[in-house]
Amino acid sequence: MSQVHVLSHPLVQHKLTLMRKKDASTSTFRHLLNELSMLMAYEITRDVALQEVEIETPMETMTGHVIDGKKLVLVSILRAGNGILEGMLSVIPGARVGHIGLYRDPKTLKPVEYYFKMPKEMDERDVIVVDPMLATGNSAIAAIERVKALNPKSIKLACLVSCPEGIAAMQAAHPDVDIYTAAIDRQLNDHGYILPGLGDAGDRIFGTQ
Ligand code: URA
Repeated sequence: MSQVHVLSHPLVQHKLTLMRKKDASTSTFRHLLNELSMLMAYEITRDVALQEVEIETPMETMTGHVIDGKKLVLVSILRAGNGILEGMLSVIPGARVGHIGLYRDPKTLKPVEYYFKMPKEMDERDVIVVDPMLATGNSAIAAIERVKALNPKSIKLACLVSCPEGIAAMQAAHPDVDIYTAAIDRQLNDHGYILPGLGDAGDRIFGTQ
């Protein structure tokens, strides 16, 4: 079974609480999401492979360690996933980016795909799928199914807020995909929204409410 990593760091919890407030402005929400995405990237890349490199300091030659950022792919589930990209790319600037366009059919809550574009040679890369909300899990499950067909070396899921229903569905569908989340909220409502949650993440990022 996959692991669920709850990012309990005080900075993460503090910023998430500010984001949840209904009167947080679009720019505040976006700014906090950007900062939180950097902190999430820090945690999620904790076990990324390092390569040895010889470098010259002003004093002498030494062997240092670097990440091959090009081997990492951030896969954004449109459109809310894009809110996480900027922050993650600012700390992993070499990462490649893939996009999956899925919308939730409002009646069935099932995902419908309208866009799919990934970097080449996915079988040589480690993937981090990003989506702020793990609600029913339907979109993330479908996105990961599509990514898996390209045989990447590994897949992790980064979501800001999750709920027990979404985690259970994800673990049942993809027991090999670890989940990184800042919070596991109480429950889903009848419309597939997380309670207490933060509302519609896409609307709050892009100011389309
Ligand atoms: N998508 C959102 O943006 N918010 C939720 O609470 C659930 C799904």
